[in-house]
Amino acid sequence: MTTERAAPLKLLVMADLHLRAERPLHGIDPATSVTRALAHARRHHPDAAALLLLGDLVHDGTEADYRRLAALLQDLPWPVHFLLGNHDGRAAFRTVFPEAPVDGAGFVQSVQPLGRHRLILLDSLEDPARLPRRHAGRLGPERLAFLAAALDEADRAGARLLVFVHHPAAAIGIAGIDAIGLVDADAFLATLAPHRARIDHLFFGHVHRATTGTVSGLPFTTPASTTMQLPFQPPARGPAHDPQLPAGYVVALLPAVSGAPLVLHHEMLLPAG
Ligand SMILES: [Fe+2]
Repeated sequence: MTTERAAPLKLLVMADLHLRAERPLHGIDPATSVTRALAHARRHHPDAAALLLLGDLVHDGTEADYRRLAALLQDLPWPVHFLLGNHDGRAAFRTVFPEAPVDGAGFVQSVQPLGRHRLILLDSLEDPARLPRRHAGRLGPERLAFLAAALDEADRAGARLLVFVHHPAAAIGIAGIDAIGLVDADAFLATLAPHRARIDHLFFGHVHRATTGTVSGLPFTTPASTTMQLPFQPPARGPAHDPQLPAGYVVALLPAVSGAPLVLHHEMLLPAG
């Protein structure tokens, strides 16, 4: 006798698209890489339940950038969820994607149900004037209060949780990235702590490199960028990204039944040519 197990739900996670409308970026057109990743996902994962974009959707945060993104996302077989990163522009994003959910204060954050899980999407884009370094990120008290309320609500509903934020709340061992992480990571992790048993995984973007680790007892993953990858030791001068490194995205298999594993596959795409 075989035991039938409900199939896991597939969630696609793509990070750091850095689309640019007007000019190439470090000699490449990010749209080529993003188109390639989306085509790969369409071919291999048409059955996915959703696509989540983990921030740095575009490079310059302009409406023209977002219009180019919208064109690439047309007619996809999955609903798309958005996070913002340090290269995004909240007002321009909301102009081009007015249907994207926001919280009561206009931050691009929401809770999305997916099977047994709730996906908590947080907005860590901050005004550079309020940061110690441009390109760092911050949640701040208002957005952390949204997180706390979402966690309490998940407790009441008995839901499993995945939490997504562009800026890593963990030092990943590359000095240039660790200097521009989530400046209030400690407050973020303290907010999560009472709900640890309910949280299956954290996802961060920003790193442009596939990493996995634990922070405060919680597992986290950063997907490779769809567009540009960072070597472990970026060069002291010149462009930090290495065009020889493979692009990628994550396919998360979310368990449909209690006790089944959460599994992440890293789809890696060799550099063109
Ligand atoms: Fe970033």
